[in-house]
Amino acid sequence: MNLDFTGKCILVTGGTRGIGRGIVEAFLEAGARVAVNGSTDESTAKAVSELDAGDRVVAAPGSVGEVAGCNAVVAAAVEGLGGLDVLVNNAGRGGGGTIEDIDEELWDRVLDTNLKGTFFTIKAAIPHLRASKGNIVNIASVNGMTGVMKSTAYGPSKAGVINMTKCLAQEFAPDVRVNAICPGGVDTDMLQNLAVRKAGNVPDGYEIIAADCPQGRISDVSELAKPVLFYASDAASFATGSIIAIDGGETA
Ligand SMILES: NC(=O)c1ccc[n+]([C@@H]2O[C@H](COP(=O)([O-])OP(=O)(O)OC[C@H]3O[C@@H](n4cnc5c(N)ncnc54)[C@H](O)[C@@H]3O)[C@@H](O)[C@H]2O)c1
Repeated sequence: MNLDFTGKCILVTGGTRGIGRGIVEAFLEAGARVAVNGSTDESTAKAVSELDAGDRVVAAPGSVGEVAGCNAVVAAAVEGLGGLDVLVNNAGRGGGGTIEDIDEELWDRVLDTNLKGTFFTIKAAIPHLRASKGNIVNIASVNGMTGVMKSTAYGPSKAGVINMTKCLAQEFAPDVRVNAICPGGVDTDMLQNLAVRKAGNVPDGYEIIAADCPQGRISDVSELAKPVLFYASDAASFATGSIIAIDGGETA
């Protein structure tokens, strides 16, 4: 299937690196215009310059961990692109440990970015998405679908994103679809950090993580980006409130 997003306006939060960057690149390849969000002016400007896509890429810097940041990011995207057809809530941060390890600051940082940020970015974007009859793809996690040991801040934040997806899919129907993709292990800075915490180095840590996956491997960002484009496209016109695991069979 050839997904064509020519003329469509897309905002990807946390689009400067990792999965978000893969999603940005896939939308550009499919002809879209994309607003790239990073948490700082510098990280956003660097990504925009590296993407080298002329006026098809605009910068929408700001932290989605605060409501004012969410509003500024959406405003910059809408102004730079001239509208909004697809919002991808990808910005996220890890953070876990035992209950003794998780203090108020860590809990707030993880929940503010992953859950509150998703909610308030959607709140800022929804008038524009209603106008375009657009759609939303939230990047949740397999850790939000099942309970994972030492994931007691991150897991609940992603479970919240999953539940929010189902609530808002009903609230916004029939005009704006809302779906969530739940990745398993994807090769990014976030997973490399987790691998080092598990085993002291990335290859050994990846071996431990891949052992929980029937496909026995870590995925590449491109394997996440393609499903995101599918659910953001008219090919998925009857999909809303769907929670899609892209995890090599991990949650199966
Ligand atoms: N890598 C995995 O294995 C994996 C698995 C499941 C879910 N996820 C989810 O996928 C998404 C992307 O993760 P990744 O692996 O690419 O991680 P990453 O750490 O490589 O990238 C995260 C991105 O989010 C941005 N970000 C973080 N806090 C932000 C804030 N407050 N405001 C704006 N941007 C912010 C970062 O700058 C970065 O661009 C996250 O939501 C993550 O929870 C990742």
